[in-house]
Amino acid sequence: MGFHTFDPAETDRLEQPTRFRFCSREELLQWLPGGGTLLDLGSGTGFYTDELAPFFDRIVAFDLQPAMHRQYRERGVPPAVRPVTGDAGTLPFADGAFDGAVSTMTFHESTTEEGLRELSRVLAGGGTLVVVDWSAQGRGESGPPRAERFDAADARSMLDDAGFDVGIAAERSETLFVRATA
Ligand SMILES: C[S@@+](CC[C@H](N)C(=O)[O-])C[C@H]1O[C@@H](n2cnc3c(N)ncnc32)[C@H](O)[C@@H]1O
Repeated sequence: MGFHTFDPAETDRLEQPTRFRFCSREELLQWLPGGGTLLDLGSGTGFYTDELAPFFDRIVAFDLQPAMHRQYRERGVPPAVRPVTGDAGTLPFADGAFDGAVSTMTFHESTTEEGLRELSRVLAGGGTLVVVDWSAQGRGESGPPRAERFDAADARSMLDDAGFDVGIAAERSETLFVRATA
């Protein structure tokens, strides 16, 4: 899968506090284990990584596009965060390297069967995955065209197939929310 990748020339849009309308720090922390090592998959310029950094021992901010990490470094990367560039289809980490993983507004861009198997591999057994993304069932008032999105049922099915235990796969007004364990 994987529709168009977010244009680094438009990253101003990733820095807007109005984004909390669709995904907040508090809801991510409600479901992610505190402490330990977290993988932020498709971290962009680190908007949510920065929000989460005070609550984890270490976060890997993983993104396909070097331009995203360049902009993140220009703004300032917190000491607990390590930016790593690469493709979600082949994660350069050891088996069970992470206690948890989070992915915000990226699932529709980055997801492949291979990538989800990789995500399962790098999470420790019982490790938590939280996904928030634009939903194909959403209103379309913000975010990419609905034709480029998955819905919560799609996400559940893809994660099931990759061996995750999906506890929550919910539709909201514009976004989907998934909590699964490896
Ligand atoms: C819409 S941005 C969201 C960024 C960040 N999660 C946020 O919410 O601010 C999607 C990000 O996913 C990254 N991405 C897309 N495909 C990817 C892949 N195959 N592997 C890693 N990152 C990917 C893009 O480069 C982009 O930075």
